[in-house]
Amino acid sequence: MRVIILPDAEAVARRAARFVVDLMAKKPACVLGLATGSTPLGAYRELIRQHRESGLDFSHVTTFNLDEYVGLGPSHPQSYRQFMQTNFFDQINVDVNRTHVPDGRALNFEHSCRLYEQRIAEAGGIDLQILGIGTDGHIAFNEPGSSLGSRTRLKTLTSETIRDNARFFGSEEDVPRLAITMGVGTILESRCCLLMAIGESKATAIRDTVEGPITAQVTASALQLHREVIVVVDEAAANLLARKDYYAEVEQAQTLLEAGDFRALGIGKHA
Ligand code: GLP
Repeated sequence: MRVIILPDAEAVARRAARFVVDLMAKKPACVLGLATGSTPLGAYRELIRQHRESGLDFSHVTTFNLDEYVGLGPSHPQSYRQFMQTNFFDQINVDVNRTHVPDGRALNFEHSCRLYEQRIAEAGGIDLQILGIGTDGHIAFNEPGSSLGSRTRLKTLTSETIRDNARFFGSEEDVPRLAITMGVGTILESRCCLLMAIGESKATAIRDTVEGPITAQVTASALQLHREVIVVVDEAAANLLARKDYYAEVEQAQTLLEAGDFRALGIGKHA
């Protein structure tokens, strides 16, 4: 795992957006996996800014969102489809037909989940999956106890997640109890995962994800098995990491390598 610790939310947003922009430069018809929640909002704002100011072109990009509440139609103000339209899709030039969010109204869950997986496969798989994290260490809506090999399916939300997300609904009673979510196994198939976290409330989840054992009780910890994971966090979310200094040294070495400054890395000194 590559762990990038930055001073604040603004820096996290810019850094995360840069990974997306770099991918789009290399592969204009890339497939992005997108997340909802407050964490990726800053990155979406930065991408919107670059679209407006520098013409960042989303016209060939395909997107798949992680999850959707069961029972909420696409125009419900709290549905994840509506969230994506308002906060991202309506403000860039993505073709709406290329944007995918699980269908919260489909009652034939098994069929619609299988179809979602099929669509991802037909698009060639996800190049870069953006992820937030729940306070209990869940990714998408893969609550503690989810199989680490799980696929897109129906999931019952925990009371902790319902409490955390009540702020968007007004009251806990209004938060749906069920969601359709990509599975941990689905997420692990993305070519690259970019996990973002901001604030003290995520510090325990980030410590358990990065430095804890791999366990279905912290579904984000399964990312330790993935070959390309980037964790971008602010100081507050990184606060409980034991190896913070080492992660900073790795980033410093990476910067020097990218700049070709081999001398500063001590390379050649022994030749
Ligand atoms: C929900 C979403 C997750 C998200 C999490 C954290 O549970 N399903 O994808 O990561 O909330 O949200 P926030 O970024 O608002 O803290």
